[in-house]
Amino acid sequence: LRVLINKAFSRARIEQLRNRAEVLAEDLVDRMRAKLKPDIIEDFALPLPLTMISELLGLPEEARTRFRRWTNVFLGARSEFRMALSLPSIFALMRYLRRLVATRRHTPKDDLISALIAVEEGGDRLSQNELIAMLVLLIIAGHETTVNLIGSGMLALMENQREKERLLGDFSLLGSAVEELLRFTAPVETATERYAAQDIDMHATRIRRGDVIFPVLASANRDAQKFAEPDRLDIGRKPNPHLAFGDGVHYCVGSHLAKMEAEIAFGCLLRRLPKLSLACPARELRWRAAPVVRGLKSLPVIP
Ligand code: HEM
Repeated sequence: LRVLINKAFSRARIEQLRNRAEVLAEDLVDRMRAKLKPDIIEDFALPLPLTMISELLGLPEEARTRFRRWTNVFLGARSEFRMALSLPSIFALMRYLRRLVATRRHTPKDDLISALIAVEEGGDRLSQNELIAMLVLLIIAGHETTVNLIGSGMLALMENQREKERLLGDFSLLGSAVEELLRFTAPVETATERYAAQDIDMHATRIRRGDVIFPVLASANRDAQKFAEPDRLDIGRKPNPHLAFGDGVHYCVGSHLAKMEAEIAFGCLLRRLPKLSLACPARELRWRAAPVVRGLKSLPVIP
C-alpha cells in the first residue's frame, strides 16, 4: 500500500507544490491581518495543510470543514466509550468518500483519488475497502499533524525571542529550524501501537512478548543521551536525529510535504508579521485532549 502512494509524496513531487503552498500562505496572512482577533490555528495552521492535502487528493472544497469536524471528533476519543461515540463521525467520512469514489470512477480527474481508483480497477493490489481506508489515513495524517507543528512551533518561537530573532536575521536557518521545532514540539506525541516480538527488559521494567507498546516519540526527542540540553530550543541544532516522523518501515510518508509546508508557514508568518505576539498569557492556552497528536486548540495573537 505504501508503494502505491510513495511516489505522490516523494521529495521531487512535493517540490512541485511549493509555489501553490506559498500563494496559499500569503493569502492566509492577508486575511489574518484583516481580522480583529486573529488565531494562528483557525486562520493559518489548519487551512494551509488541509487545503494542500485536499487539493492533492482531489477533495471538493465545500466538504473540507466537515472533514475537519469528523476527524477531530475521532482523534479526540480518549476512552473506549468516547471511541464508540466517535464512530458515527468516521462512518460519515467513509460514506462521503464512498460517494466521491463512485463519482470519480465515472469521471476521473488529475488527482490522487483518481490515480488510486485506477490502481484498484487495474488488478488485485488494492480493494475498495483498502482504498477508502487509505484515503481516511491520508486525510487525517495529512492535516491533523502539520497543524500542530505550525501552531506549537509558532508558540515556541514567540516564547524563545532569541531564537525567533536569530531566524528573522537568517532565513537560511529555516530548514534546521523546522527539524528542531519537530523535535521540540512533538506534533505526533506517540507512535501507533507495536507488539513486543520478544521479552524486553528496560529500565527495570519487563515488557513481555506480545505486550502492546506505545512508543513515546516526544520522550525520545528529549533524550539527554542523544541531544545536548534537550529542553533548549536551538534552531541551528546539528546533528538532530529526532524521531518526530517515526523510524523504520512505517516512517512518515508525508514527511517531505509536512516539512515543505512548515518551512513556508514559519517563513511567511515571520517575514510578514515579525512583531507577532500572544494575545493572552501562555498559561491560558488550551491544548487538544487527543491521545496521539499534541497541539493547541487555538493560538490567539496580536499581529
Ligand atoms: C508534522 C507533520 C507530521 C508528523 C509529525 C508525522 C508523524 C508521523 C509518524 C510519527 C508516523 C509513524 C507512526 C508509527 O510508526 O506508528 C507517521 C506515519 C505516517 N504519516 Fe505522518 N506525520 C506528519 C505529516 C504527515 C503528512 C502531511 C502526511 C500526508 C500524507 C502523513 C502521512 C503519513 C502516513 C500515510 C503514515 C503511515 C505510514 C506507515 O504506516 O507505513 N504524515 N507520521
